[in-house]
Amino acid sequence: MTTPTNARPNIVLFGFMGTGKTAVGQRLAETLGLVFTDMDDVIVERAGKSIPEIFADDGETRFREIERAVVQALAGRDGLVIATGGGVVLNPGNVSDLGRSGLLVCLQATPEVILSRVAHDTNRPLLAVDDKLGRIRALLAARQSLYDALPHQVDTTPLTQEGVVAQIVDLYGG
Ligand code: S3P
Repeated sequence: MTTPTNARPNIVLFGFMGTGKTAVGQRLAETLGLVFTDMDDVIVERAGKSIPEIFADDGETRFREIERAVVQALAGRDGLVIATGGGVVLNPGNVSDLGRSGLLVCLQATPEVILSRVAHDTNRPLLAVDDKLGRIRALLAARQSLYDALPHQVDTTPLTQEGVVAQIVDLYGG
C-alpha cells in the first residue's frame, strides 16, 4: 500500500472522562480542516447499542475488545482528530498503534473539575455510582501514570476551550 504524500497526521486526544476531548476535538477539527471522530460513537455504531447497554449486556471486557478493534481501524487512517475513550490507555497496544498515526495529546483536569463536567451524565457506566468523586479519584489513581506517559500534556483546568485548542494547534504545527 502506498501512503499519499499529502496525508495529514491524525491528532489523537487522550484523557480521563470529562477532560473535554470531544468538545476540544470538534473545535480543533474545525480549526485545522481535519475530520472529527469520536471513538465512543464508532463503538456504539458497531455494537448497535449504547455504551451503558454494552457494559450491562456484554461486560467491560467485551467493550474493551470492540474499543481495540476501533483503535486499529482508526489508526490506519489519516487527517482525523480522534477523541478516544478514557480507558484507551489501559491497553499499551492502543497507544502504540495510535502513536504511529499522528500527534498524541493528553488532556488533564482535577477530579473536582471532572466531577463538575460529568455530574449529571448517565452515559458513563463506570461513574454510575453514588460516590462519583471517590470513583473518579480511584480510577485516576490507577491510570494517572498511563496518562502522564503520553508525549504531550495539556492541563485544561485553567484554560478555556479556545486556549486548549490553541495549544494543540501549536503542537501540531498548524
Ligand atoms: C471510559 C470512558 C468513556 C467510555 C466508557 C469507558 C473509561 O469515554 O469509553 O464509558 O474507561 O474511562 P469518555 O472518556 O469519552 O467519557
